Amino acid sequence: MPATVIIGAQWGDEGKGKIVDRLAESADLVVRYAGGPNAGHTLVVGGEKTVLRLIPSGALHRHTECLLGQGMVVHPAGLLDEIDTLESRGVALTDRLTLSRLAHLILPYHVLVDELREGREGGTKIGTTKRGIGPAYEDKVGRRGLRAGDLEHPRRLRARLEEALATWAPTILALGGEVPDVDAMVTAVMPHAPRLIPLLGDVSAQVETALRDGKRVMLEGAQGTMLDIDNGTYPFVTSSSAVAGGACTGAGIGPTRIARVLGITKAYTTRVGAGPFPTELDDDVGAHLRAVGKEFGSVTGRPRRTGWLDVAALRYARRVNGITGLAVTKLDVLTGLDTLRVCVGYEGASGAANELPDGDALTPVYRTFEGWTESLQGASRLEDLPPPARAYLDFIEEASETPIDLISTGPGRESTIEKTGGF
Ligand code: GDP
Ligand code: IMO
Ligand code: MG
Repeated sequence: MPATVIIGAQWGDEGKGKIVDRLAESADLVVRYAGGPNAGHTLVVGGEKTVLRLIPSGALHRHTECLLGQGMVVHPAGLLDEIDTLESRGVALTDRLTLSRLAHLILPYHVLVDELREGREGGTKIGTTKRGIGPAYEDKVGRRGLRAGDLEHPRRLRARLEEALATWAPTILALGGEVPDVDAMVTAVMPHAPRLIPLLGDVSAQVETALRDGKRVMLEGAQGTMLDIDNGTYPFVTSSSAVAGGACTGAGIGPTRIARVLGITKAYTTRVGAGPFPTELDDDVGAHLRAVGKEFGSVTGRPRRTGWLDVAALRYARRVNGITGLAVTKLDVLTGLDTLRVCVGYEGASGAANELPDGDALTPVYRTFEGWTESLQGASRLEDLPPPARAYLDFIEEASETPIDLISTGPGRESTIEKTGGF
């Protein structure tokens, strides 16, 4: 049975965690394939909230294997903290968790450089999560990174650390920081090795075996299409391959193994951090979306920027990911707005330029829709939705040229309408 990829179709925080958790009920394996602790994936089960940063969102299903793929950058202490927090709440994980030997490690100097760059005067500010993501991927591409498998080889690890620190030293000094010494870095990592080494494995081989055995494999993306390093609103992006193609390299499987790409989109749009956002609202409607949608970053607590849904951008996401179906989340948040607007393109743009929401001066072209006042909280059948909400969804399907497979009407696992059956 081929694999399903779940990706963010916007700028992240679309509700990937909620949807993966819901669908993982019937998944045997969930693999996170990109990013690191810049992600915050929220699951709400029985009213209890869990925010996952590194661990795949299948974690709450006791029989689901959770794999951290080689496309990820992993903070050693952060991973162990996350495991401990879950285990203290009765979620046993260690015997069903695998960390790819090929995943890269985030070290204290990565976090330091990220913080210094974001804190300096002048220069492009991305508004990162300051979790060391960019510098860790820079080391990976610069071919001097430390990988999880290096924990098994302390001498090699030390030599790699020396090389990486020598490379970073001029940058750290130029940014006004203090260069950490190698011993301190060894001490930051090696004490975690005894607990991390038993988790190491070959993610690619594990996924291949599972697929051959007819098991159900879900590949969980992090961040979102417009934050993708190659296809996003560069340079205001993250440093990993967030799009569906990243699932191949990040989990070590070929594209022929993937049959379905589920794109997650909110019923409106949010973005955290700097960069273009054509449909952004700086008014009462924007404030409504932020307050009712509780739009504050789950990693940094920053207020998220809010705006209308952009189906031009969804068409772009469909193209670069090969999305086969959408999950529309947070429809409930639109309740109470008199009229709704949806961006269908940008003034003066045509063809492909009418899809990518990248540019400082893009003026959206809107279609207007009737709102509704009924609460949708917890609606779990299509028939529960008022006619204007259904018309809004019908338009998203038509204008994005993509079928809607799922609709989410609340943070809880149960608040989901499955239009086309499960996973
Ligand atoms: P992710 O990064 O894509 O997994 O998304 P986040 O977890 O960062 O952000 C989504 C937020 O919206 C979380 O607080 C979820 O609990 C919440 N959420 C998800 N789906 C819905 C929904 O349909 N309605 C409402 N009101 N909240 C939702
Ligand atoms: P999930 O998986 C939303 C944003 C940051 C910043 C840019 C680069 O929860 O959807 P980075 O720290 O990655 O170098 O920051 O990307 N960003 C996210 N925004 N959701 C995320 O993850 C994000 N991960 C990174 O705000 O603009
Ligand atoms: Mg998030």
